[in-house]
Amino acid sequence: MTDATAPRPIRKAVFPVAGLGTRFLPATKAIPKEMLPIIDRPLIQYAVDEAREAGIEQLIFVTGRGKTSIVEHFDTAYELESTMNGRGKSLEVLEPTRIQPGNLVTVRQQVPMGLGHAIWCARAIVGDEPFAIFLPDELMIGEPGCMKQMVEAYNQVGGNLISVLEVPEEEVSSYGVIAPGAKISDTLTEVTGLVEKPKREDAPSNLIISGRYILQPEVMRTLEGQGKGAGGEIQLTDAMARMIGTQPFHAVTFAGRRYDCGSKLGFVEATLALALERPDMADDTREMARRLLGL
Ligand code: G1P
Repeated sequence: MTDATAPRPIRKAVFPVAGLGTRFLPATKAIPKEMLPIIDRPLIQYAVDEAREAGIEQLIFVTGRGKTSIVEHFDTAYELESTMNGRGKSLEVLEPTRIQPGNLVTVRQQVPMGLGHAIWCARAIVGDEPFAIFLPDELMIGEPGCMKQMVEAYNQVGGNLISVLEVPEEEVSSYGVIAPGAKISDTLTEVTGLVEKPKREDAPSNLIISGRYILQPEVMRTLEGQGKGAGGEIQLTDAMARMIGTQPFHAVTFAGRRYDCGSKLGFVEATLALALERPDMADDTREMARRLLGL
């Protein structure tokens, strides 16, 4: 028997990947930024792994011009596989790139008009069910992963959830910021307001939205016809802010590590940190870092 009061399961995830990646030019002139690798996996792979760990079945990529290689990455590469087979090499390394047929859908965002607009482009595929959003720039490493932690919280409180983390006050103006309300538990807080990229003095807290969301489908209707917000873009944060009061909204403090791979320094940090964690690389990486630092 199913529990009629249980929140509806999160089966779909939207990955907005249409951005131009200008911060990484010229590297991203012909390669999507989501395909830049942290060691031996492109950024998008980390987000997809996190989604699957959380039980998500359908992946919806909101893409744009020049992003075909993201979809290719999750396709079967016959020539590569038959060559590897012929050489007796294991195909296990390709396992994370395999998607069940029919479970990867792409929609196109023709013009970059902001995150809210990108999400709205997926409305027909999302349909009338709650869904997750992953911003692949934000690399979240945890056991379990960030989205699995969020799904666990969602199963308790339902509604809408955002992952948040604390940043130094001087950084708040680069992010969406929450106004925290009542604390439900150590990791779960009610959200009473949201502002996209506020000035430091106007920020309601130093808790920022860190690129993972579980939202109810009403957000699509809220985005419909919404005007431009911060930076002249249609902002997801503005749509969520308008939903507060009509639906439950909570923030989950992620227990794990987060690397902002939208910045060059964050990218280097993620590469080093993950190399230091990998049993096959940790010792050599530590030795290399010591040598480079002259220690
Ligand atoms: C987006 C969101 C912002 C969030 C951030 C996380 O901003 O609009 O609310 O805090 O991602 O990385 P963007 O980085 O696209 O400017």
